[in-house]
Amino acid sequence: MIKNFRTVPNIVFGKGCFYQLDNIIDKRRQYTDSWVAFLVDDVFVATELESRIPQHDDDLLIWVNVDDEPKTTYVDRLTLEVHNHSRTLPCAVIGIGGGSTMDLAKAVSLMLTNSGCSHEYQGWDLIKNQGIYHIGIPTLSGTGAEVSRTTVLTGPERKLGINSDYTVFDQVILDPNLIKDVPGLQRFYTGMDCYIHCIESLQGTFINTFSRAYGEKALELCRNVFLDDEPESEEKLMMASYFGGMSIAYSQVGACHALSYGLSYILGTRHGVGCCIAFDYLEEFYPEGVKEFREMMKRNYINLPRNIISRVNEEQLEKMISVALSLDPLWENCLGKNWKEIMTREKARSLYLKM
Ligand SMILES: NC(=O)c1ccc[n+]([C@@H]2O[C@H](COP(=O)([O-])OP(=O)(O)OC[C@H]3O[C@@H](n4cnc5c(N)ncnc54)[C@H](O)[C@@H]3O)[C@@H](O)[C@H]2O)c1
Ligand SMILES: [Fe+2]
Repeated sequence: MIKNFRTVPNIVFGKGCFYQLDNIIDKRRQYTDSWVAFLVDDVFVATELESRIPQHDDDLLIWVNVDDEPKTTYVDRLTLEVHNHSRTLPCAVIGIGGGSTMDLAKAVSLMLTNSGCSHEYQGWDLIKNQGIYHIGIPTLSGTGAEVSRTTVLTGPERKLGINSDYTVFDQVILDPNLIKDVPGLQRFYTGMDCYIHCIESLQGTFINTFSRAYGEKALELCRNVFLDDEPESEEKLMMASYFGGMSIAYSQVGACHALSYGLSYILGTRHGVGCCIAFDYLEEFYPEGVKEFREMMKRNYINLPRNIISRVNEEQLEKMISVALSLDPLWENCLGKNWKEIMTREKARSLYLKM
């Protein structure tokens, strides 16, 4: 079966387009008691962006905290908070922030119409009912969360997405002005998530013309931004993230993402930096990509965290290896069908021990 791939149906792109949000939501406010739930990264408390959120009287604004990447328990708490706001469901859920906040908005939108706890839906196509209409507004670019059909959550068992066609945003608003004040280090780490998506997709065994078309363009844009210091870097980074997301949606990520999931699960290492830490030791699988990545680090004055594995005991290391090796499709994409013969537990261990 060839994948029947759901995409975001409505997109606005351009500097200042955040102002159109009120207008876009208005079309959803069909009844006098219609209301909207905004989930906004708390990094924007008391900033100019706060004053521009088009909140109406009955709307609910929740400041979400993403100091830790999203957990299923947090999604369940937020869902309850939204339920408790009114006897009716909101007409829209809007996520404003980086990948973490967008993922929280996606998950809450789904959990408002699907019973039980969010961890029960970690996996593929387990969601039964369409979620609440949801809008994604990135304030950081690189993850591709704005286009993907997943919301990545850490649950009681493991870090795994709620993957479904219903997860995809109904609308995204891509305003490059929203990413212009991101601190340099964060911009780099999240941007490299996109760069690594491109490398893993383009070099993977699952590559096809669809993914290549998006991946090559995204890679070119990443180079413009992180190597060539070209103008309009916000616009370029925003489109790189989008195209990188489109590329992996029809192929897959690879070894770097698999290993980074282990780091994140045991050490709580954030996605962007975790990918960078792992990628720097994957020269043997992605020689050209790692070389160029190091050049990008140099140009952007980045010093990666080192020796993070020294904090890990034997039991944790074993768990880390298990988490990474449980991601079969990622390894198959990187190494082919016989990946288990190459990426043994010993091999994964030796890679982790370098980090
Ligand atoms: N759904 C997907 O397809 C997908 C893909 C890749 C990663 N992810 C997830 O995305 C998350 C990582 O997202 P991310 O890298 O975008 O970072 P993030 O959302 O975790 O945010 C990182 C930090 O940047 C801050 N921040 C956000 N916007 C800012 C701005 N404009 N200015 C200053 N600070 C800002 C946040 O408050 C936070 O402290 C992880 O949880 C990862 O699992 C999801
Ligand atoms: Fe990623």
